[in-house]
Amino acid sequence: MVARAPEAARRTALLKATAVNSILAEVRQARAAGREVVSLMRGEPDFRTPPHIVEACARALREGRTAYPDNRGEPRLRAAAAAKLARENGLRYDPETEILATTGATMGIATALQAALDEGDEVLLPDPIYDAYQSPIRLAGGVPRPVPARLAGGRFALGREALEAAWTPRARALLLNTPWNPTGTVFTAEELAGIGTFVEDRGLLLISDEIYEAITYGALRHVSPASLSEGLRARTILVNSLSKTYAMTGWRVGYAAAPKAWIDAMLLVLQQFSRGPATFVQDAAAEALGGPQECVAEMRAEYARRRDAVLAGLREIPGVRALAPEGGFFAMVDVRELGLGSDQIRRRLLEEASVVVVHGAAYGAAGEGTLRVSFASGGETLARGLERLRQGLLAISEGSRAAS
Ligand SMILES: Cc1ncc(COP(=O)(O)O)c(C=O)c1O
Repeated sequence: MVARAPEAARRTALLKATAVNSILAEVRQARAAGREVVSLMRGEPDFRTPPHIVEACARALREGRTAYPDNRGEPRLRAAAAAKLARENGLRYDPETEILATTGATMGIATALQAALDEGDEVLLPDPIYDAYQSPIRLAGGVPRPVPARLAGGRFALGREALEAAWTPRARALLLNTPWNPTGTVFTAEELAGIGTFVEDRGLLLISDEIYEAITYGALRHVSPASLSEGLRARTILVNSLSKTYAMTGWRVGYAAAPKAWIDAMLLVLQQFSRGPATFVQDAAAEALGGPQECVAEMRAEYARRRDAVLAGLREIPGVRALAPEGGFFAMVDVRELGLGSDQIRRRLLEEASVVVVHGAAYGAAGEGTLRVSFASGGETLARGLERLRQGLLAISEGSRAAS
């Protein structure tokens, strides 16, 4: 008799595909059925990586930079990251001991969680938030504990009361994302100081994902929580990536910065899954962080134009209010007055208007009643997508008014 074939470990049942991946499956189906669908869903910049960065990679390859990398990160990249953190964030980290190169923020976050969590530890997670944080928390033995954000005055905010209400003695870390996907909030220094006091009072670790830091609007600027005090720096793991800032999503490169003990623990974890980003990719990343920064300003200006187009395109739809993002390239649209679930609205938009957005509930219960619209892509995609979204929402709005 042949024994039963082995099945995947139980641990894999804890893991979930992201909302974007699940919706992509629906979009593929619609496309396979011959429908032409416009997507305003993904967080994938449509810019090409700036040429000087590509050239640095090509040069590294020509120079034979193809051997195993230093597992902490190539010295050149660690030095460039430390210099960037000092220059732009007012933070001092020792490139020898306090920086770790990672394959994107994804690896930085997973590595931090694996290094930080014991079985059953809770991670306080603002709600709504990037849904791909859930699975790595569970994989590390942790339990996500949502902290409902408050939507008031056209902005999502996270108050101390909500943090205190969510806290339990099992809480080990707070995972923060500023600028905050999907809400578009950029935490102010004041807000961060309040959150920092909570983190210190409760003896927590702060994992700070700052991947959208370069994309802020108007006079708003990103503040890195660790820069607020020595006490907070001592308990923060800063995670960053080149994916969004330099349109390098496919290069898979980022870095973490933290006190030596955390970086040592994270390095041990990282070595079990990876040996770090490819050596020639690290050379390109060092060039990105240390080279000319005009490309970043140009992309930011273009995102600002797209943001204005989204806000203009969704104006004056009864029961619909687009929230002006302070940072990042997503706009949340408040559709609570339409009286339908956000997933239902998303599906109707796909079916009736052939446009794809993400329902806010995918990012947590506190995201219900909103839709996330991406303007990571511009040009024709954004123009056509917005027109469809406008028409689709107008139709739903008229329908819901007629019914009430
Ligand atoms: C908040 C946030 N963190 C991390 C990531 C993943 O970043 P990376 O490409 O650096 O792995 C994303 C990607 O969309 C994101 O939105």
